[in-house]
Amino acid sequence: MRKIQSVAVLGAGTMGTGIAGLAAEKDFKVLLLDVSLEAAEKALQRIVGGRPPALDTPEKASNITLGTLEDDLDKIKDYDWICEAIIEDLDTKRALFKRIETLRSDHSVVSTNTSGIPLHAISEGMTESLRNNLVVTHFFNPVKIMRLLEIVPGVDTDPEVVEILSDFCRNQLGKGIVHAKDTVNFIGNRIGCFWMLMGLHKASDALDRGLSMETIDAVMSSPMGLPPTGFYGLIDLIGLDVMDFVGKNLKQNLPEGDAGRAFTDFPESVQKMLEHGQLGRKSGGGFYRVTKRDDGSKSKETFDLKNESWRPFQEITLADDQQSPDVMFSDSAEGRLAWDIMGGTLCYAADLIPEISGDVVNIDRAMRWGFGWQKGPFELIDALGAEKFIEKIKQSDQALPAMLQRLDDTGCKHFYQNGHQEYFGTDGCYHPLPAE
Ligand SMILES: NC(=O)c1ccc[n+]([C@@H]2O[C@H](COP(=O)([O-])OP(=O)(O)OC[C@H]3O[C@@H](n4cnc5c(N)ncnc54)[C@H](O)[C@@H]3O)[C@@H](O)[C@H]2O)c1
Repeated sequence: MRKIQSVAVLGAGTMGTGIAGLAAEKDFKVLLLDVSLEAAEKALQRIVGGRPPALDTPEKASNITLGTLEDDLDKIKDYDWICEAIIEDLDTKRALFKRIETLRSDHSVVSTNTSGIPLHAISEGMTESLRNNLVVTHFFNPVKIMRLLEIVPGVDTDPEVVEILSDFCRNQLGKGIVHAKDTVNFIGNRIGCFWMLMGLHKASDALDRGLSMETIDAVMSSPMGLPPTGFYGLIDLIGLDVMDFVGKNLKQNLPEGDAGRAFTDFPESVQKMLEHGQLGRKSGGGFYRVTKRDDGSKSKETFDLKNESWRPFQEITLADDQQSPDVMFSDSAEGRLAWDIMGGTLCYAADLIPEISGDVVNIDRAMRWGFGWQKGPFELIDALGAEKFIEKIKQSDQALPAMLQRLDDTGCKHFYQNGHQEYFGTDGCYHPLPAE
């Protein structure tokens, strides 16, 4: 099998610097190109001195050679992995790949770091040789910290290329590899963005029923096995501008009949925030803001979506019986919220096999490694009790999502068995779990 010992990173922005820094840290030879030498040099400064730096060992910056896309692209012939990480624009990426096509060596593997453009759109009209050697490598930001890497082959990709890149990124760069299909937003963002966009609407209904934003965040964090940022807190971190971009892309590209199509627009109050530039942490405040008082102390405030005004943040302590995901089986307001957002997302995930992933394992790993969920959707359904979960869906007169229907049809009770050594496949049989 071909081996990767050097990486040419094209584009030295957020992702390019992250990938270049990680490869240099692990002692691989890196070529880093950007639009100008000045841009590339600034990128190297960020790699070494950014907060946090992409390189932990500053001396290893000597593994990186800088250059420009205009003058130095021919150097890629000496590199084993050509990793494109320029702006998210189809024509710009296609124009660069046209040049890569003539300059790369035949033994090289090539990847694009798109987050939303289908691989088949990028590779259309390329030579067979490039199509055979091309995949999407979908890293998460910050590259050094986030374990998830989704690898997405096209219809013409040689399986050996997936194997070479998976092996290198897993064993040399320390990534957790998830195998995804060439569908909109791949796995992690398809499910994670549904959770957020659908969640904004369901959370808005919960506010109408009298829950506070702080309670919504308290339920949508540790009780569900989710990070402490909670629901509104995570959207503040990402920014409403990014969520709006994601929603527009989904509106265009989600397949007909997909449950996510109903939620690609924001609820009215959130749309107003976007229009006022109240985007989240990056704009000084979104759903929450932290302000400094004259005496230097800090105060946290909540943008009350019902009254559309700021008020002091309220600390929430949930009752004991609301501290676990089982709350979604209760009739309380908190339970209904948990069922709507978390239960709804689990159902969405269970309906996306085989469309976005061949099995439950890749979906569970994507949500654990990319979104910090303690349990992936199918692991969480197992923890809740698949039978109980299925019964609740049946009671609400909803159709069972595909994988739950399969479980129900076969009479199986779990997505994983034998101490998490085996998983339930689309064929209704259990299979050995692939190594991480
Ligand atoms: N930022 C993320 O969280 C994230 C996550 C996953 C994937 N991605 C994808 O990775 C790719 C890079 O994203 P990023 O966040 O690093 O972007 P970025 O804006 O930080 O960097 C893009 C780089 O492209 C260069 N560039 C600008 N115009 C160019 C042109 N006409 N030709 C060639 N290069 C040009 C810029 O100088 C910059 O260094 C995008 O396709 C993006 O969708 C981003």
